[in-house]
Amino acid sequence: MSIVQRTSLQAIPAYKQGATPGQGEKAFKLSSNENPYPPLESVMSGIAAELGTINQYPNAAAPELIGALASRLNVEAQCIALGAGSVEVAGQLIHATANPGDEVIFAWRSFEAYPILAHVAGATPVMVPSDAAGGHDLLAMAEAITERTALIFICNPNNPTGTVVDTASVDAFMAKVPAHVLVVIDEAYVHFNTDADSAVGLDFFRRYPNVAVLHTFSKAYGLAGLRIGYAVAPPQVAANLRKTAVPFGVSALAQRAAVLSLEHEDELQLRINELIQARETLQNALHAADINVIDSQANFVWLPTGAATEDVDTQLRAAGIWARAFAGEGIRISIGSPEANQAIASAVISALQEASTHA
Ligand SMILES: Cc1ncc(COP(=O)(O)O)c(C=O)c1O
Repeated sequence: MSIVQRTSLQAIPAYKQGATPGQGEKAFKLSSNENPYPPLESVMSGIAAELGTINQYPNAAAPELIGALASRLNVEAQCIALGAGSVEVAGQLIHATANPGDEVIFAWRSFEAYPILAHVAGATPVMVPSDAAGGHDLLAMAEAITERTALIFICNPNNPTGTVVDTASVDAFMAKVPAHVLVVIDEAYVHFNTDADSAVGLDFFRRYPNVAVLHTFSKAYGLAGLRIGYAVAPPQVAANLRKTAVPFGVSALAQRAAVLSLEHEDELQLRINELIQARETLQNALHAADINVIDSQANFVWLPTGAATEDVDTQLRAAGIWARAFAGEGIRISIGSPEANQAIASAVISALQEASTHA
């Protein structure tokens, strides 16, 4: 007799991690938008000094980190809620707002975890097709709001297309969102966003009582393996996030690394600048070769390869580029080390030429 199981789980795919090359294979893993730089020395030695405390639970209130974030972001400490990565906080946000069957709206394609998190929370995902350029269709998203809508994600810049929403469009959108619906601006890639017209999550948080912002230490700050992210949310929402969090989910090592990263932001900024520069160089090279690449404000580029996606991905793998392919839609390639970035342009150009000769 099989063990009882939650029937709705059968319809939910497990989250799929970016593919990793085999051991010893000479290839670049560019499938998870990770930071290619090693952790800062100061962060590594800070965590090493903390190792002797891992027989104890972390301080769940994380006073040092919360204090550092509050002063860095100029927000009240009570508005900050931490989680084991911003993906965990995204799940908490759904648990904190949606009653069973309530709706969670987001653009599609966007961050793959959104529909999974919504289903797991017992909510109904409402996936609003993106526009032809891979950007959020905010008009259609506003039209998708019903009385069951509990939460709306805006992913800015969007994963996997790298597009941004501008301030004026988000203001127009907010005018149509009922005041009881929470709008979450997911800014996992905010540090790579140089678009002056882009909506800025914290500005919206300050100007609207129903806006929360999601940030992570995984991408620009290079702490993906330590799992730490946070929301800046209205106080009542932040309090509910603390209720829905897994107790002690954020380790003392992660807290320490995050504090040290905030103290060394200047050093991290140099790396971020290099990644932005590398993205621009890559996009220029692809544009120059007449390749259809969507202008990205994140640490990855998106190739809308459509039906050729699997073929192109196979060619890229043969050239040592392990990207993230979405069958029938496109391929997302993370910006990597200088060596990887050099390899990407020529690999993409020849893979697309190869695919078009077979089309
Ligand atoms: C848009 C977006 N939000 C959130 C996350 C979660 O990042 P983490 O849980 O590592 O903070 C990701 C990771 O890929 C992402 O792309």
